[in-house]
Amino acid sequence: MTIIHNQQDVTPAVLKVMEQTSDPRLREIMVSLIKHLHGFIRDVRLTETEFQQATRILNTMGQQSNDKHNEFVLMAGSLGVSSLVCLLNNGDNGTTETTQSLLGPFWRMNHPVTENGGSILRSETPGPRLYGTFTFLDQNGAPVEGLEVDIWHASPVGLYENQDESQADFNLRGKFITGADGTMRFRSVKPIGYPIPTGTTVGMLLAAQNRHPYRPAHVHVLAHKEGFKTLINQTYVDETSYLTSDVQFGVTAALIGKLEKHTGPHPEDGEVGEWYTLEHTLTLEPGVSKLPIPPIK
Ligand SMILES: [Fe+2]
Repeated sequence: MTIIHNQQDVTPAVLKVMEQTSDPRLREIMVSLIKHLHGFIRDVRLTETEFQQATRILNTMGQQSNDKHNEFVLMAGSLGVSSLVCLLNNGDNGTTETTQSLLGPFWRMNHPVTENGGSILRSETPGPRLYGTFTFLDQNGAPVEGLEVDIWHASPVGLYENQDESQADFNLRGKFITGADGTMRFRSVKPIGYPIPTGTTVGMLLAAQNRHPYRPAHVHVLAHKEGFKTLINQTYVDETSYLTSDVQFGVTAALIGKLEKHTGPHPEDGEVGEWYTLEHTLTLEPGVSKLPIPPIK
């Protein structure tokens, strides 16, 4: 290594060391990281005080993270990083639209097996009825039969059952199997959007940027079958402006379900009052059917 004389000498000196990394992928990542990181510091002319603040913020974010809260994941979402990684790695490696999305923090294993068309209400949950019809196709547009589909979502007050003592275990969660037409149907109640936690570093950033903390209402989907890449999806069920201002930048056009409001008796169960239908078509890509590690038990 040659002796460093000035700020311009630092980057080549560090890059030379990064080039010594044995693993080729780690080398590629570290070289690019240094180029962008040093470039960013020059770009904003980072001051010494700001640098001290930055290291303090990262320290604090580590201290705010634990088994139940991951501040870095929350920050990655709030900066659009999670969405970018998802869109780059799906839809034929970022070349086409995809119905893949983020898993979120509340998928659980072993959702109760529910018959096609059955209800996922496991305790009384007031709110407008929702009748979901999801169709799963392969890349050639053929229906995928025998797909195992987990559905879960927040209640009409914006809480998942694991966050809410008043809901039964596994309320608003169910496991379905698609029929020969690649379709599964479920009955539930219409979820609403909910805020991400705002008591930590991410909340301070949102306040500084005059941003609301809300995610638009959505239904989570996890579908898997041998021969297909596990489909992780959030289907949006929202009529609000949160669709275009999702705090986690998760909404894409391919993820917005067809939501329709109805009144009068439902044709099948005859119940009266306001009810909604939600239809969506999701596409599976070939790949490995691997389940994610459940974020909660
Ligand atoms: Fe969610």
